[in-house]
Amino acid sequence: MQLKDKVAIVTGAGVGIGVEYSKRLAAEGAKVVCTDIQGGHAEATAKEIVAAGGDAIGFKADVTSKADTDAMASRTQDQYDRIDILVNNAALFTALPEGPFDELKEENWDRCMEVNLKGLWNCIRSVYPFMKKQRYGKIINISSVTWMMGRPYRLDYVTSKAGVVGLTHAIAPELGEYDINVNAVVLGLVQSDSAVKVYGAEHFQKFKERQVFKRSLTPQDACGAVVFLASDDAEMITGQSLVVDGGLVFH
Ligand SMILES: NC(=O)c1ccc[n+]([C@@H]2O[C@H](COP(=O)([O-])OP(=O)(O)OC[C@H]3O[C@@H](n4cnc5c(N)ncnc54)[C@H](O)[C@@H]3O)[C@@H](O)[C@H]2O)c1
Repeated sequence: MQLKDKVAIVTGAGVGIGVEYSKRLAAEGAKVVCTDIQGGHAEATAKEIVAAGGDAIGFKADVTSKADTDAMASRTQDQYDRIDILVNNAALFTALPEGPFDELKEENWDRCMEVNLKGLWNCIRSVYPFMKKQRYGKIINISSVTWMMGRPYRLDYVTSKAGVVGLTHAIAPELGEYDINVNAVVLGLVQSDSAVKVYGAEHFQKFKERQVFKRSLTPQDACGAVVFLASDDAEMITGQSLVVDGGLVFH
């Protein structure tokens, strides 16, 4: 119970790895606010946590809307009286079409940056006043090793995930003054439902062959780094990227 009585918000908690972060944070004792653009799915995650004996609420929040992220922060404060942890997990990933960089549609580029970068900025500026007041906060931004590998045909996604690390580096020094930690978790290929469906076994096999550990990462494998960075054990860690990829890139 490393996070007993802490209050955590997870974005993109309706589907995929965000569901596992929510369940694991709850298992570590946190009260979890599950949000997603798919509100019904976020509610379902919260219900699952409550059914397992945890404390959670779930509702719709589109991270591209500052009105939504402000409402997400106020609702969390109203319900639980503080905001300790923000897991910035929501992103467009498999939903983005792949292809040569010069054939990428401008509207897809714009939408990718809006969700995968502006979305993080919105969430951070919405929770920040509460974290600043309590002089405590742990912000964890989810990135991807694709930007370290230089993966082709995913220009928008890879660029946005490099941006997540840049954003982490830029915000961490500003928020340190208020004892708020800002770090990134950089994931390798993970068997979320959407990744399995879109990429298939062959793609996972290729990654496995390049990894030190010859098995695919599960959503549960991603949770330990998030719990650690959300915990008081990470008190003096900020502006860092923790790579969780089974030994694919060395950083
Ligand atoms: N699965 C992988 O292999 C992998 C690898 C590296 C990084 N990641 C990152 O991990 C995170 C989760 O990945 P996943 O595979 O579970 O993805 P996913 O597509 O299965 O889930 C993403 C969630 O984000 C939500 N979402 C999308 N747009 C939103 C918006 N505007 N506002 C709020 N919620 C929104 C979706 O509804 C969905 O529930 C993402 O940030 C992704 O980039 C995943």
